[in-house]
Amino acid sequence: MLICPTKAGLREAVAAWRREEQVIALVPTMGFLHDGHLALVRAAAARGDKVVVSIFVNPTQFGANEDLEAYPRALERDCDLLHQQGVAAVFTPSVDEMYGTSGKTFVEVPELGGILQGALRPGHFRGVSTVVTKLFNIVQPDVAVFGEKDFQQLALIRQMVRDLDFPIEIIGYPTIRETDGLAMSSRNVRLTSEDRTAAPVLHAALVAAEQEAARGADAEHIGTIIRAMLAKVPRAKVESVDILDAATLQAVSGSLTTPVAILLAVRFGEVLLIDQKVVQPG
Ligand code: PAF
Repeated sequence: MLICPTKAGLREAVAAWRREEQVIALVPTMGFLHDGHLALVRAAAARGDKVVVSIFVNPTQFGANEDLEAYPRALERDCDLLHQQGVAAVFTPSVDEMYGTSGKTFVEVPELGGILQGALRPGHFRGVSTVVTKLFNIVQPDVAVFGEKDFQQLALIRQMVRDLDFPIEIIGYPTIRETDGLAMSSRNVRLTSEDRTAAPVLHAALVAAEQEAARGADAEHIGTIIRAMLAKVPRAKVESVDILDAATLQAVSGSLTTPVAILLAVRFGEVLLIDQKVVQPG
């Protein structure tokens, strides 16, 4: 497995594989890998001949008061795990290698990046769409795999790929969960033990919402059920509960007529957890 800290090194490796007509599949990550990431890697391996994983904690998607420094890192361990998965190359640029003296041009998807989590975290999605564009230009993959847990991020990347004509197939992969339902996330290790015990309430609330939707409940009732469940857990500080059209991310009210994405953002102490479920109308 190649470990490439430079754009030039990575480009050279990919160019050689392209000459051999290999299909390149990219999994962008910020490292501190867990089984959820490894599932994305396996999905990439099923679609491509050569899997490239990027590990880059992207500063431009963190706000001034966010946890950039506290973001967990474990590069050596990550590389061992990726080696075991048969990954062809890991791209591990420094901030300087990635942005250097650049950083004057941004890619923005204002409609999808300014709502929901984007409204709570100004600039976050501009950082995501810019770094993903850079990764797409550096790696030039045929396929790229992203987790559905970051539902808004996935919708925004799909939009950007359509709008900017990237010749890349975007694959969304379902959320991988711990046995108690908590969505896997690199942030979970930062939960206190009390918060870790409380955090599966997100998934429990989503499952309850799914059952209510199947019984024909409207959006308002589903929202009430979710908020009531979260309110029973004092450690959970709700940032947002959104019930959206799964295709457009527009807020839904009244009866459900199309698949609906329920997005939760809930803070436990310093740690913001997100989770999502797409539910079908009854
Ligand atoms: O989902 C993530 O880990 C990041 O937002 C991504 C897509 C790697 C961009 O930095």
